[in-house]
Amino acid sequence: MDTTFLQELGLCKSDRYKNTILKIRSLIKCEPDLTANLCNITSALKYSFPEFSWVGFYLRDGQAQDELILNAFQGKPACTRIRIGKGVCGIAALLGETIIVSDVSEFPGHIYCDPDSKSEIVVPLMFNGNLLGVLDIDSTSLSAFDNSDKLYLEILISEIIYMFNP
Ligand code: SME
Repeated sequence: MDTTFLQELGLCKSDRYKNTILKIRSLIKCEPDLTANLCNITSALKYSFPEFSWVGFYLRDGQAQDELILNAFQGKPACTRIRIGKGVCGIAALLGETIIVSDVSEFPGHIYCDPDSKSEIVVPLMFNGNLLGVLDIDSTSLSAFDNSDKLYLEILISEIIYMFNP
C-alpha cells in the first residue's frame, strides 16, 4: 500500500496540486527525454488524484498539422487522433484556452473514449502563441473540475513547456 498516496487523500485539492507539482519537478529535473517525462507526469497526476480516471497528452503532429496524436497517458485505451476543432481536446486546441466540461453529455461534439467518463478538463500547451498539444483529464464523476484545477494545471504546463524545445 502506498502510504504517500493515502496521506495525499487527506489534503485539500490545492495542497495536493502543490505536492504533485513538487513531485513532478523532482521527477523531470535531471531527465532530458520528453517521452519519459510525459509518462511520469501523467502517472503522478493520475495517482495523486483518485477522481481522475484518464490523464494524457495529445500532441500536435509534425506531419498533419491539423491533428493531435495520442501520447503518454494513464487510463483506458483512447482514440489515437483528434482533429483540431473536434471534441473537447480539438476545441481547446483551436481556441488555445482551457476548457472545463462539467457534464460531457451536454458538450456538442464531445468524443467518447470511455463511456464512463462524465466530466473533463483540457489544457492547451501553448508557446509564443503556437499550439504544441493538450493535456486532457477525465473523471467518472460529474463536475469533477473547477477553476482551481485550471489554475494549477496551467501552472504545471507553464513549468514543463521548456521540455518541448519550442
Ligand atoms: N473526450 C475527448 C477525447 C479524448 S478522451 O477523453 C481520452 C474529447 O472530446 O476531445
